[in-house]
Amino acid sequence: MALPEEFLQELKSRSDIADVVSSYLNLRHSGRTLSGLCPFHSEKSPSFHVYPENGSFYCFGCGAGGDVITFVRRIENLDYMEAIRFLAQRAGISVPENEADQGLSRAKGRILEINREAARFYHYQLMQQEGTSGREYLLERGLTLQTIRRFGLGYALNSRFALVNQLSKKGYTPEELLQANVASRASTGRVVDRFFARVMFPIIDLRGNVIAFGGRSLGDGKPKYLNTSDTLVFHKSSGLFAMNFAKNHSKDGLILAEGYMDVIALHQAGFPNTIATLGTALTVEQSRLLARYTGEVFLCYDSDEAGQKASSRAIPLLRDAGLTVRVLNLSAGKDPDEFIRSHGEQGPARFRQLMESSGNDVEYRLQKLRGRFNLQTSDGKVAYLIGAAELLATLDSRMEQEIYAGRLAEEIGVERSSILMQVEKNTKKRKKEKDRKEFRAFQQQTAGIRDTVNPEKSRHLRAANAEEALIVYLFQHPDAVQALSELIPPEKFITSFNRRVYTVILGKIKDGKACGLTDLAADFSVEEISAIAKMLADYHQVNVTAQDAKEYRNVILQENGKLDPQDASSAEPQDIRDYLRKLREQKK
Ligand code: GTP
Ligand code: MN
Repeated sequence: MALPEEFLQELKSRSDIADVVSSYLNLRHSGRTLSGLCPFHSEKSPSFHVYPENGSFYCFGCGAGGDVITFVRRIENLDYMEAIRFLAQRAGISVPENEADQGLSRAKGRILEINREAARFYHYQLMQQEGTSGREYLLERGLTLQTIRRFGLGYALNSRFALVNQLSKKGYTPEELLQANVASRASTGRVVDRFFARVMFPIIDLRGNVIAFGGRSLGDGKPKYLNTSDTLVFHKSSGLFAMNFAKNHSKDGLILAEGYMDVIALHQAGFPNTIATLGTALTVEQSRLLARYTGEVFLCYDSDEAGQKASSRAIPLLRDAGLTVRVLNLSAGKDPDEFIRSHGEQGPARFRQLMESSGNDVEYRLQKLRGRFNLQTSDGKVAYLIGAAELLATLDSRMEQEIYAGRLAEEIGVERSSILMQVEKNTKKRKKEKDRKEFRAFQQQTAGIRDTVNPEKSRHLRAANAEEALIVYLFQHPDAVQALSELIPPEKFITSFNRRVYTVILGKIKDGKACGLTDLAADFSVEEISAIAKMLADYHQVNVTAQDAKEYRNVILQENGKLDPQDASSAEPQDIRDYLRKLREQKK
């Protein structure tokens, strides 16, 4: 991981944080900092700040922070080295590869080769005599041979060594097969096939690599689907099935279904813009990926209760990613695959009708709400209106609120303005609740509760705050390093995260290396960098002096001397003052 110092300096000098961030969002100057709407959570007033002076960013709304590398890691969803390559490419310089990286990319390359070989083998078996049961299963479910070929579907024989033997012959070691997760270690210690007696669905990434498999049992065998666990090349929470095909057909919207079979059936029926998550709930990452390819998503989950629940969870994520969401209303007990099949030749046309008549998610939710009341009675009407006004209060856009209020007014026969008044009241109530929640989250954050980066902070709040001030002091005054390390050696630090940060910074400066946030990016995780960026943001425009440093040192020594850990609750009044101060600063 150790990249040459000169390279990092060069990269840093050519990757101005304000430039890089501005290519993703609008930044406005406010004094010496820049601010804008945070790209990592949804908000209406800007709490995202960029500090060009020290090359950092921090969001007071969601706590995301770091340097330019961390920013790219987060927004492009890359690991450290990928982010380095990304920035290097942007700056037009090349990345020196060291042995460790070469090792890692070699290992990834081997896994991809194994996956490709395995996919070929499974497909070959499906088409052979031995694969008859798998083939018949898929044909029975209505897939054509052409579809089977297009998706590269396969069959894993009912044998525990078929694939392992085949790939061993080709020179892959048992360790490599385990790493690719196509094999597992049996209780006897032997390395055996992970998938057997299953039809196999290869999962292919945007570059055409086979990165994983889903395997379905032919009958009622449990589990119904067995999927590849995460490997060096596969993270199931970010993958999307059939995105490799759908990305080329996404301009009129993407159809998001739940299962492999749904996707394949819809592709076969003429909807090549269908995709699915890999058996997991939709994530923020996936929603953002979708938003890169389209502006509109047709949500097409199963009509059972689980599917409805999954829909309600997916809708806000998709909306937050800036997508228009339309919800398809499949008839009871159906998933898209069954829907297409049950309508025979009419299937595709009926599905297209369904898409055309699908409401957006507001309509969908209003319709669900309407179904709960008897609109023939005035009690029913009132209850429906109250629910609807609550629903409309969740919309960000005033225009949308007015449009739906208008429709409701017509439907029920009341004044539009009185509906809007009710909506307004609910909006205010929601805002109050949100502020209260945010304050509680802030309190917990500053008290260190749920502080996963520095879990000791809650018990040693006073010391941890002093430690953080000293860390900031080092960033601000690298020339004081010798004096400071004599004043207080790392062993005296109480919380281990801060001790680690302090140690790393001392080491770098003493080795004559540069030490800004960017120089720490390789030694800390994204979350850890956020925590360090928060320290810098907290002390932004505050110069920690040598005298301050001495006092902070004394605090740490004092706290070190105490046996009783500091009680977190006693620090609360200070936190509230902090919070109010920050709110005031943000308002300015
Ligand atoms: P069929 O039942 O063959 O029509 O498949 P389906 O795609 O309709 O499956 P279903 O709607 O039951 O599940 C949707 C998706 O959840 C599947 O495509 C899988 O990705 C995942 N899934 C379903 N069952 C399991 C399971 O037993 N284990 C795991 N890991 N994932 C599953
Ligand atoms: Mn199904």
